[in-house]
Amino acid sequence: MTIILKEHQFSIEEYLFLESQMEDMDETSPKQAQKSLNHHITAVAAFDGEKIVGIGRLIGDAAFYWCLVDIWVLPEYQGKGIGRKIVQWLLQYIKENSLKNTRVSVFLMAAFGKEGFYEKLGFRTRPHEYEGAGMKFELDM
Ligand SMILES: CC(C)(COP(=O)(O)OP(=O)(O)OC[C@H]1O[C@@H](n2cnc3c(N)ncnc32)[C@H](O)[C@@H]1OP(=O)(O)O)[C@@H](O)C(=O)NCCC(=O)NCCS
Repeated sequence: MTIILKEHQFSIEEYLFLESQMEDMDETSPKQAQKSLNHHITAVAAFDGEKIVGIGRLIGDAAFYWCLVDIWVLPEYQGKGIGRKIVQWLLQYIKENSLKNTRVSVFLMAAFGKEGFYEKLGFRTRPHEYEGAGMKFELDM
């Protein structure tokens, strides 16, 4: 199996299909998903031949703050190093697209039980000795 990673502009159908394959994921409305896809900085897809088997997206201001979202690998392709490749691809994108001689922060919200995956890739779980907890506020529109 050869997995190739490429920058990819998702169709809404591709995105919603992948989302539907993820456990414990709330279904999003196509309209909200399309608006989100229109506003991300970049997205990467992992391909097995023509088939998309994993994705990752970057949002943020591309200067101080970058945020990884939707790091998804199809269940039958998990545990093969594809998630790691996706995160490394996005980190490399950040390195190549940040202003030189600056410090940037890369954030994410780990799904429950996935912290160890990101820790292996160099992320620190908050809170720790000099940063408080990440916080979240949800609004129903
Ligand atoms: C989380 C996810 C992206 C990981 O992708 P993956 O392709 O299965 O992971 P990889 O095979 O690249 O694993 C890389 C390393 O992380 C480890 N790892 C994977 N999942 C882990 C977990 N939940 N906890 C701790 N370590 C984990 C692997 O054992 C591997 O370790 P190694 O380098 O010592 O061999 C994938 O399981 C997934 O899509 N899950 C469902 C969607 C989801 O929850 N996404 C995260 C949203 S925050």
